[in-house]
Amino acid sequence: MAIKFNILTLFPEMFPSMLGQSLAGRALERRDWAYKAINIRDFAQDIHKTVDDTPYGGGAGMVMRPDIIEAALLSVPKQGRKIYLSPRGKVLNQALAKELSTEDNITLLCGRYEGVDQRVLEAHEFEEISIGDYVLSGGEPAALILMDACIRLLPGVMGNEETADNESFGTNTGGLLEYPHYTRPAEWDSATGKTYEVPEVLKNGNHAKIEEWRKDQSLKITKALRPDLLEK
Ligand code: ADE
Repeated sequence: MAIKFNILTLFPEMFPSMLGQSLAGRALERRDWAYKAINIRDFAQDIHKTVDDTPYGGGAGMVMRPDIIEAALLSVPKQGRKIYLSPRGKVLNQALAKELSTEDNITLLCGRYEGVDQRVLEAHEFEEISIGDYVLSGGEPAALILMDACIRLLPGVMGNEETADNESFGTNTGGLLEYPHYTRPAEWDSATGKTYEVPEVLKNGNHAKIEEWRKDQSLKITKALRPDLLEK
C-alpha cells in the first residue's frame, strides 16, 4: 500500500526534511510513500509572482489569493483528501493519523502570512487539521508532522508490526500512555550520584506478571501526566 502526499506550499524546499531520514526515508526509497511539493508561486499571474494581498476589511498581515491557490491545486491530477493545515482545525490525534494513513492520495495546503482566502477552502471543500493549540508561522512543519504520523503506520515501515498497537494511544494500550522502557545496564550509576536499577519484575521472565506490571504502569502514568485521557 502506497500513499502519495501532494503539498501545496511557498517553500517546497522544506520537504521531505526529516522524512528523508531513518525509517520514513527508507520507506520513501522503497516507494511505500511518495510526495510532490508544488510551489504555489509557480502559479502566480504577474511578473512579480504575487501570491498574496492585503485583507478586505483591514487588519494586519497578508492573505494568500484564492485564484493562485486554486490554479496550484488544479495542477494535481489525483487530489484525494484535501487538507488545510490550520490552528483552527480539528486537532490531529492517533485515530485520525491512522485513518489518514489508509488513503491513497492526500493534498496538503500550507498557508503562510495571515492565512488563505476563505473562498478557496470552501470551493474545494478542504478539511482543516491542526497539530495542536499553538500558532506556527506556516503550515509546513504541521504538514511534516502529519505526514510522519501517517507514514510510520504504513505496513512494513516500522519493522515490528505490533509496535504501533503497543505504544501510547495504541489499540493494545486502551488509548493510555505507554509503560516505561528499560535496557542494559541492569544497574546504572548515574553521574548525578544516584544508582538506578531495572524493576525486578522485568528481569525474571514471567510474562503474565510483566504484562500486568506494564498495564498498571500505563494507568499510573496516564493518571499522573494526562488525566484527561481517562475521562474519555
Ligand atoms: N499553521 C499554523 N499553526 C498551525 C497549527 N497549530 N496546526 C496546523 N497548522 C498550523
